[in-house]
Amino acid sequence: MQDVIDFLKNAADEHVERLQEWLRIPSVSTDSARDGDVRAAGEFVARELTECGFETKIWDTPGHPVVTANWLQAEGAPTVLIYGHYDVQPPEPLELWRHGPFEPTIEGRNLVARGATDDKGQAYALLRGITGYLKVRGSLPVNVKFLFEGEEEIGSPNLVPFIEEHEADLKADIAVVSDTSQFGPGMPAITVGLKGLCYLEVELTGASHDLHSGSFGGAVDNPANVLTEIIGKLRDADGRITIPGFYDNVRDLTDAERAEMKKLPFDEGEFQKELDAPALFGEKGYSTLERKWARPTLDVNGLLSGWTGPGAKTVLPCKAMAKFSMRLVADQNPDHIAEITAAHLQSLCPPSVRMTVTPQHGAEPVLVPSDSPFFHAANRALAAGFGAEPVAIREGGSIPVVSDFKKILGIDTILLGLGLPDDGAHSPNEKFNLDDFQRGIETAAHLVDEFSRI
Ligand code: BES
Ligand code: ZN
Repeated sequence: MQDVIDFLKNAADEHVERLQEWLRIPSVSTDSARDGDVRAAGEFVARELTECGFETKIWDTPGHPVVTANWLQAEGAPTVLIYGHYDVQPPEPLELWRHGPFEPTIEGRNLVARGATDDKGQAYALLRGITGYLKVRGSLPVNVKFLFEGEEEIGSPNLVPFIEEHEADLKADIAVVSDTSQFGPGMPAITVGLKGLCYLEVELTGASHDLHSGSFGGAVDNPANVLTEIIGKLRDADGRITIPGFYDNVRDLTDAERAEMKKLPFDEGEFQKELDAPALFGEKGYSTLERKWARPTLDVNGLLSGWTGPGAKTVLPCKAMAKFSMRLVADQNPDHIAEITAAHLQSLCPPSVRMTVTPQHGAEPVLVPSDSPFFHAANRALAAGFGAEPVAIREGGSIPVVSDFKKILGIDTILLGLGLPDDGAHSPNEKFNLDDFQRGIETAAHLVDEFSRI
């Protein structure tokens, strides 16, 4: 492998420059004004892969395009499906960025930009490691199918139909996704558990228009008061969710799993200090890592009602809206959770206001087996690329496509996290460490080599 690794090391500056080019494209999938940019970000990878000899196609969908690129000349060898997403989260609040979110800037050893780690930087590391291998050797030791989408951050609404329609073309022995993180600096990790997601929007309305809170307060109900009361009832003081039936399908951690987690070097005090939170909070009876990785949670994501401008306005609002989501664990089902949650909300709603509940996108929780030959091979590749023995971890985030790969294509996914927990995905000044980027590129080259030996 030394020839490939030497080539990849020599190309380090070029990798960074090209990644910066990709990061300059503001591919925000939630913002329809950015549709052209999202497409351009897809075209960027398509162009790169075509140049390297991959058979590439850009597929239109009712939303953002899907890009596929195949190199299938390793007869008899395994086939790897590599997934990445080229869309990013909105960059707001802009005033908190040290520079423009789409003006990638190198600060020390970090590259700072929206999408630096989630997911352009990580996806690009896999792309560069594999195409680098191909450039040096003239062929790959395994068959490779790339699949890039531009809708991950909005719940991948068009990806399932795409995978179903192209099931035969996407067939592979294993999937690989780099969209998670290491356990910490110098502690590479393979993620074996992701949370699912159930996201709801609830709106309460009262009178037909906003009212004077002196003239009408106390006589007409206030949707903001009611909404906050209802939300307050969804979780008890022990941090447990009170929706009837919510925990029915939760797979509890085994004693062995809890013991494994305890072995990881995680300092709760340090964690709190880094976040500058006045205290940690979570479900009673569980450690912070257990809460983050293996217990379901409920969080309000947005809350809107009444006067929120400067000063005071004595208004009785006629409308209140909240967006909240529950992160789910195996074996909870997002559709079922949405149903029981909506029913519970309706049961808490007094006759003095009207309620509508609208489910948003969801994702299923996943657990990945850690005893497959592919898992062991990926472990060896990470160890070679990062120079340290990887650990198995879980994550609280969701990647909807992982359960779709299992259900539709029947394959497991190796979640190779190249970023760091403090990379600030979805936050201002998102970053990716350039050394991790290079190590990720080299890991990808080792990965195809290790997979070919299975
Ligand atoms: N890269 C993240 C998933 C992730 C986050 C993994 C944190 C591990 C730790 C991904 O791009 C993401 O943000 N997914 C969304 C999915 C949702 C829109 C269905 C998420 O988790 O909120
Ligand atoms: Zn991501």
